[in-house]
Amino acid sequence: VHVFDHPEPMRRYARERRAHHETIAVVPTMGALHAGHLALVDAARRLAGTVVVTIFVNPLQFNETADFDRYPRPIDDDLTACRHAGVHAVYAPTAAAMYPAGFQTHVEPGVLAERLEGAMRPGHFRGVATVVTKLFAATLPHLAVFGEKDHQQLAIVRRMVADLDLGVEIVGIPTVREPDGLALSSRNARLAPHDRAAAVSVPQALRAAEDAYRHGERDAGELRAAALAVLDAEPRARVEYVEIVGVDDLETRSRVDDQVVIVTAVWFGEVRLIDNLRLG
Ligand code: PAF
Repeated sequence: VHVFDHPEPMRRYARERRAHHETIAVVPTMGALHAGHLALVDAARRLAGTVVVTIFVNPLQFNETADFDRYPRPIDDDLTACRHAGVHAVYAPTAAAMYPAGFQTHVEPGVLAERLEGAMRPGHFRGVATVVTKLFAATLPHLAVFGEKDHQQLAIVRRMVADLDLGVEIVGIPTVREPDGLALSSRNARLAPHDRAAAVSVPQALRAAEDAYRHGERDAGELRAAALAVLDAEPRARVEYVEIVGVDDLETRSRVDDQVVIVTAVWFGEVRLIDNLRLG
């Protein structure tokens, strides 16, 4: 696996692959790779001849320095995982290479970034949009693979690519879950054992809404209440939001007549988990 820590050699490699008529798929990550990321890599390998994984813990998208400092950075394990997964190149820029002195230009997403995660984490999606644009500029991908677990991020990236004519195909991959249903996340490792046990209430809550939907319920308030009832019954869960929104516009729905997504953010101790499920 080729490893690049600066945009110039990364772009040279990408240009050379393109000159050989290779399709490039990029999998943007912040490292601490788990089976969820490897599912993205697998999809990328099926779709393209050259797979680039980017590993960069992006300071611009963290609201709290402590959260940024605490974020795991097992770079050696990540490189081994990439090698085993058949990744062709890893782009792991230093912070100085990504944001050199004098850096001052950002990508500002629109209203999609103001709700849900955006309301709770001001500036978060501006940081995501900026870094994803820069990662695309360095890796010159034909397509980019993102996890559906971060549903709002995926919607914002799709919008951004369309709005800015970036010409990168965005592919969303279903969330990988633990056997008990908990969505894989690098943050799960930080859950205390009792919180890890309690966190199963998140996928259970989403499934309660799905069950109600399957039984014919179409009122979004009732579906939301079904999910909240599960979370309210778990004393360790501190619910930040449970919303039923349109898949692309992320607007709150009062009825479920077309495809929607139920999205949630829940705290367990110091750890904030997000998850979502499509309905309809
Ligand atoms: O989803 C993530 O891991 C990050 O938000 C991303 C897309 C790599 C940008 O830093």
